[in-house]
Amino acid sequence: KDSDFCSIVVFGASGDLAYKKTFPALFGLFKNEFLPPQIQIIGYARSKMAHDDFIQRVTQKIKAESDEDKAAFKKFVGLLSYVQGKYDEADSYKNLAKAIAKNEKTGQISRIFYMAIPPSVFTDAANNIKAHCYLKDAKAENRLVVEKPFGKDSESSRALAQDLAKNWSEEEIYRIDHYLGKEMVKNLMVLRFANVLFGAVWHRHYIHNVQISFKEKFGTEGRGGYFDEFGILRDVMQNHMMQILCHFAMERPSSLSASDIHDEKVKVLRAISPLRQDDVLLGQYTAGTVDGQSQPGYLDDDGVPNDSQTPTFAAAAFHIHNERWEGVPFILRAGKALNETKTEIRVQFADVAGNIFPCANGKKAPARNELVIRVQPKEAVYMKFMNKKPGLSQEAVETELDLNYDSRYADVKIPDAYEALLLDVMRGDHANFVRNDELKAAWAIFTPLLHQIDRGEIKPAKYAFGSRGPDGLDAFVERHGFLRSTSYQWTPPKI
Ligand code: BG6
Repeated sequence: KDSDFCSIVVFGASGDLAYKKTFPALFGLFKNEFLPPQIQIIGYARSKMAHDDFIQRVTQKIKAESDEDKAAFKKFVGLLSYVQGKYDEADSYKNLAKAIAKNEKTGQISRIFYMAIPPSVFTDAANNIKAHCYLKDAKAENRLVVEKPFGKDSESSRALAQDLAKNWSEEEIYRIDHYLGKEMVKNLMVLRFANVLFGAVWHRHYIHNVQISFKEKFGTEGRGGYFDEFGILRDVMQNHMMQILCHFAMERPSSLSASDIHDEKVKVLRAISPLRQDDVLLGQYTAGTVDGQSQPGYLDDDGVPNDSQTPTFAAAAFHIHNERWEGVPFILRAGKALNETKTEIRVQFADVAGNIFPCANGKKAPARNELVIRVQPKEAVYMKFMNKKPGLSQEAVETELDLNYDSRYADVKIPDAYEALLLDVMRGDHANFVRNDELKAAWAIFTPLLHQIDRGEIKPAKYAFGSRGPDGLDAFVERHGFLRSTSYQWTPPKI
């Protein structure tokens, strides 16, 4: 309601995430009038910063070019303030509590505590917020938004969950996986459950294999210190990519309620057997040349030990042991410093049995149908299928049905994932957040293999910066049933 007051406190306000994602997202929501009219946004961090420096820092990525945006930006800045304090000291939180209360008006009050802080101070912060900044009034709402990493394996994740649960209920906790805020990830449910066509073929009877790829053409670039402790499996596969897999593979939830969706996701995760060494191919990038420019190797990054065996690339085959997916490999691959930046899902359908058509290039069988859901960049859904070669020919040739967001939805601005998720927090909708039992089930799949890697038992293969990945990649995906075809390449239409 317009009379309600909302305070958002961003912990870790001097960090990268705050200026790259959180504050730009808050501005996006403000500009489009999705923030409650009575609101204050407080940044909290350890650094000493004058008010103006704080504003400059957290708004550096915000673009406000039109007059309208400039006016909105001015108003937005008026909502921001900064409080400096420690993460483990009660007095700092008492001070913060005063600063929050100073501006709060009567009416229903909600406080959103957004934690973008290192794991080492996580529990201290959560406990102190509860002790000093939590509103006990029965009408008030307190929400704790937390960012990964949620532990490093099953054990540490369980310990963290237990620590949090001492003071915060599951209802109050919002675990962010920002991939759940991406338009195309959200679209998966609609594609599957609002289309008889797709719903009908989403099954081991018709789908041969599924590939989900996450590629970035940049390396760790200064984040090496953080990354080396985690590696690509923990950084993106156990979380972002498993979330995509869940939305792709789960049964239809009874409703769109958060608990119905989470229940289905947990069932999928529990049906996946833990990864074994034979199911993965690991890589680590070395120096390379991209567009004539030499690029450093992973081990050259400051903060990465010279003998690090941390994988920056992983391909892994998952098997879901249930009625729908038994026998269908899900091949996930993720890597830094590759030849392109792209996240997509590629569904490869079964071969046509008993083909009767002549095919292009003298091939014996039609190419497999492929449905591609491109998450980013340039959202698209396209379907590779066989068509009669136009003219006096019986030949079957590959072509595509193409839904390209740039042309079909030219006037729509797709919100950033963080905008979508912060709005969900304000609305109290947990559907696009990670429930604790999901996290537990996801870690169970990865933990034994991660421990083997941590013990140095599996060494990553080298690949050059800017390449497609380690040498064995094509053989690995083929061994797991994916048929790579280079005969046909989709090109996004020029607009
Ligand atoms: C983060 C990872 O969670 O996701 C990064 O820590 C990764 O390593 C990033 O680059 C990818 O997110 P996006 O939205 O840029 O695809």
